[in-house]
Amino acid sequence: MENRAQDGARQDELATLVRGLAAELGRQADRGVVRVAAPPRASAPAPPPAPRQAPPASGPAPDAGGGADPARVAENRRLALETADLVGLKAVVAACRACALCETRTQTVFADGPDGGTGKTRVLFIGEAPGQNEDEQGVPFVGRAGQLLTDIIEKGMGLSRREVSIANVLKCRPPDNRDPTPAEKALCTPFLDRQIELIDPEVLIPLGLHATQHLLDSTESMGRLRGRVHMRGGRKVVPTYHPAFLLRSPSMKKECWKDIQLAMRELGLGRPK
Ligand code: URA
Repeated sequence: MENRAQDGARQDELATLVRGLAAELGRQADRGVVRVAAPPRASAPAPPPAPRQAPPASGPAPDAGGGADPARVAENRRLALETADLVGLKAVVAACRACALCETRTQTVFADGPDGGTGKTRVLFIGEAPGQNEDEQGVPFVGRAGQLLTDIIEKGMGLSRREVSIANVLKCRPPDNRDPTPAEKALCTPFLDRQIELIDPEVLIPLGLHATQHLLDSTESMGRLRGRVHMRGGRKVVPTYHPAFLLRSPSMKKECWKDIQLAMRELGLGRPK
């Protein structure tokens, strides 16, 4: 009995290690650091959630990393749910000081789209987090990757950039463009969830592994998640590669184009002339 229990524990530990490695390789492949074949599906149960930190009695927000402060997540959710429109939500986001990114940001980056990202659209692109240009201008996807995204929207889909919405999982720039931490994502998620509800798009297009895994609550690789339509809360999700990755790996643009055509079919959009 004891031996079987020990074997089971070892298998669980191994499966967790394999999943972690697969997720990391997927992230690196997404950023163009390594190129890997899609990892096998892990059959073991999902790992337990990250440990939660107790809310501090007072003082500044806990540093990014590790578990988010549940009281602050709940407060952000309350604020987001109480906000009736996108103009109000943009103001709530601009005032957010729930994590340490508020200390280093120039400004929050809410969205781009009709009325400065406060209008409804049929499509919502979702990136990872603002970079330096976005932090300076307060608009998502305005750098080189942003220009490629604009080309995808305008030349590929035949839409104008103002006809779609563009946002990020995080509304503040992580210093040195490091990856968002789980705590930062947890704190910003109430804003993204409410933003999705209020924009009310038919199709969500997460860009890159971070946004895709976050939206689909998955640890699978980009290779496994893209190329098909997922459902999230009654909305279609069509993941594709991040434009920054496509700039580094132009040969993958044809795969992105397949994803965009899939999204266009879901939207009933024809190919632009
Ligand atoms: N990359 C992102 O994920 N978002 C931006 O807004 C810019 C670059």
